[in-house]
Amino acid sequence: MTKAVRVHKVGGPEVLTYEDVEVGAPGAGEVRIRQHAVGLNFIDVYFRTGLYKAPGLPFIAGNEAAGEVLAVGSGVTNFHPGDRVAYYYNLGGYASERVIPADKLVKLPDHITYEQGAVLMLKGLTVWYLLHKTFKVEHGHRVLIHAAAGGIGLLACQWARALGAHVIGTVGSKAKADLALANGCDHVILYNEENFVERVKQISRGELCDVVYDGVGKTTFPGSLSCLKPRGLFVSFGNASGPVPPFPLAELNNHGSLFATRPKLNDYVGTRKELLEGADTLFAAVINGKLHVPINHAYALKDAAKAHIDLESRATTGAAILRP
Ligand SMILES: NC(=O)c1ccc[n+]([C@@H]2O[C@H](COP(=O)([O-])OP(=O)(O)OC[C@H]3O[C@@H](n4cnc5c(N)ncnc54)[C@H](OP(=O)(O)O)[C@@H]3O)[C@@H](O)[C@H]2O)c1
Repeated sequence: MTKAVRVHKVGGPEVLTYEDVEVGAPGAGEVRIRQHAVGLNFIDVYFRTGLYKAPGLPFIAGNEAAGEVLAVGSGVTNFHPGDRVAYYYNLGGYASERVIPADKLVKLPDHITYEQGAVLMLKGLTVWYLLHKTFKVEHGHRVLIHAAAGGIGLLACQWARALGAHVIGTVGSKAKADLALANGCDHVILYNEENFVERVKQISRGELCDVVYDGVGKTTFPGSLSCLKPRGLFVSFGNASGPVPPFPLAELNNHGSLFATRPKLNDYVGTRKELLEGADTLFAAVINGKLHVPINHAYALKDAAKAHIDLESRATTGAAILRP
């Protein structure tokens, strides 16, 4: 028996149930791990509420964690008991132990802690592909990052700045503005109080942005389109405030022949080669000091509901972990 947080019916934070579950021995190609830290993500909220459909009920929430290998199944040659590992994978993360396909694991370098590993595999890899693959951020680009003080936001602002971009962030409070400025933002906009489109126009002296990274969704649309220069890229990668409504493609034409994409991590790290390329680049950025991992909140795994309440009520900044 091990402990896990399961969802028996979708709903509010109260549906997160801390209980005993069975974890079997690893099968062929699988590894059993003891988890030392689990990453908290907004996607966990989408699955809990039913916005994203889990394959069935009940399910164990959570998509990223780090820990040590306890046992390996037949055919697994590249992992051994005691190895320090981390992963981004399907549901099943909110648990003390789990079984997972070996090809979804990466080894943690000595200098990366379990806690860092647990928040880098989903949030960090997402920031990696958004800034290097979806749009290749380079010196001189002007980028707008919504929810700049969030888990994705603080990592994205730091990395975009390190790549030489001019970074504009939006945030929900003054305290978050200070944090975003300390993590790579050149300018911060309080988008609950200020018209962010007008502020982007002012800040950029009318030149607007090369790319907008929008994980907020409903409340920042269609404003995000108005922040882009002709042929700029709208990257809608999340729905913290609700999904972007359907819109006519002609809107992209009206705003200056824009490009738009709705990417997800799975499609950027779907092969082992891509996963290792992303993880290697990410870990190197942390080890060489380009990227600081802001873990600003920690909860016991059994308090996952409290963690969800804080995340949904915009009370968190940076990354948060659950401790099994
Ligand atoms: N597509 C992908 O591959 C991918 C992968 C990972 C994450 N994501 C997305 O990235 C976004 C950020 O994820 P995260 O885990 O790092 O979360 P987070 O940014 O730490 O938390 C969400 C933030 O969104 C802002 N927000 C704006 N309106 C909100 C509302 N109505 N309710 C709640 N929050 C609101 C809040 O910041 P302010 O108070 O500053 O407004 C809040 O702190 C999410 O949309 C997530 O789904 C996408």
